[in-house]
Amino acid sequence: MRIAFFSSKSYDKEYFKKYARNYNHDIIFFETALTEKTANLTEGCEAVCVFVNDKVDKETIAILSKLGVKGILLRCAGYNNIDLEAAKEHHIKVLRVPAYSPEAVAEHSLALIMTLNRKTHKAFNRVRENNFSIEHLVGFNLFEKTVGLIGTGLIGQAFAKIMLGLGCKVIAFDVYENESLKKLGINYLPLDEVFEQADIISLHCPLTPETKYIINKENISKMKDGVMIINTSRGALINTKDVIGGLKSQKIGYLGLDVYEQEEDIFFRDLSESVLKDETISRLMSFPNVLITSHQGFFTKEALGQIATVTLNNATVLENGEVLLNEVL
Ligand code: NAI
Repeated sequence: MRIAFFSSKSYDKEYFKKYARNYNHDIIFFETALTEKTANLTEGCEAVCVFVNDKVDKETIAILSKLGVKGILLRCAGYNNIDLEAAKEHHIKVLRVPAYSPEAVAEHSLALIMTLNRKTHKAFNRVRENNFSIEHLVGFNLFEKTVGLIGTGLIGQAFAKIMLGLGCKVIAFDVYENESLKKLGINYLPLDEVFEQADIISLHCPLTPETKYIINKENISKMKDGVMIINTSRGALINTKDVIGGLKSQKIGYLGLDVYEQEEDIFFRDLSESVLKDETISRLMSFPNVLITSHQGFFTKEALGQIATVTLNNATVLENGEVLLNEVL
C-alpha cells in the first residue's frame, strides 16, 4: 500500500523505515502537516498516516476521498483531530494505535511532578553556574499525599500504580470504574470530591465534549489551595485563561503540562530563532511554578517501536480487507 506520511520527523523516519522492512508498503514522508491545503500531496496514495496535530477535518477528508484515499492511519491513540462523521460519509476507514506504551506517558507525568516539586531543573542550572545554594528549592514529600486521577484507562492505571508505589493515597473519577484498581486500594469518588481532596490532580481522560475545559474557573475554586495540576492528555481539557487566573491568585501551586490547546502551531518545532506570537503560552512560561514539555509523554524507544509496528500492521489489515481491530468507529 502507498502511504502518504504527514508531519514526519527524523525519529518517525528512523523507526518506520526500520520496521517497514517486514512489510510491503511504500511510504512517502512529508514534513508538512496534513491540512486542506496539503491534502493534494496524497495523489496516488491509498492511505495517509497522521499524528496528533494534523488537521483532518471534513474539507481535508473530501479531498482525500476524491484522490482515492481509503484509510487514515493514526500513529497515536487520541483521534479528536479527525472528523469521524466525514470519514464515514466518504467510506474512509480510520485506524489508530490504541495503546503503545501507557507506562511511557504515566512515567512522564511522574517526571513533571518530580521536577515541579523538587525543582531539579532549577538545581541543574544553579550548580552549573557554581551556585550551590538550596534557597527556594524546598519541595514536599509525595508519601501520603492524595493524588486525584481523572480517567483510569490504560495510562491512568499505569500512573495509579506508580503513585501507589510512592505511598500516595490515590482517588479517581471515571465514567467507568475499574474493579482491579479498586482491589489495589484506589477509591472512586464523584468528580467534585476528587477536586476537593486531591493535593495533585492528573488528567488521563480523552478530549470529548464532556471533558473539554474540565479544569475551569468553577472547578479550580473547589480545589485545595496550592494544588498541583498535571495534564499529559489533551490541551483543551484545561481552560488556559482560567488556569492563569488560578496561578495568579496562587490557588494553583504548580502546573505541569505536556499538552496545550494551541499546540499545533508551536509544538514539535524549533522556534528558537522566531518571535513567539502566542501570548498565552508566553504568560504561562513566565510563572516560576509552571513546567511545559512539548508533547513528549509518549516519546520512548519502546513506544516508537510499537507505534511503527501497529501502524504498519493496520495498513496491511486494511489492504487485505481483514477485520479492523484497531478501527475508530
Ligand atoms: P483510555 O481510552 O485507555 O482511557 C481513557 C479513560 O478515560 C477511560 O477509562 C474512560 O472511561 C475515561 N473517560 C472517558 N470520558 C471520561 C469523562 N468524561 N470523565 C472521566 N473519565 C472519562 O486512554 P489512555 O490510553 O489511557 O489515554 C488517555 C489520554 O492520554 C488519551 O485520550 C490521549 O489524549 C492522551 N495521550 C497522551 C500522550 C502524550 O504523549 N502526552 C500519548 C498517548 C495518549
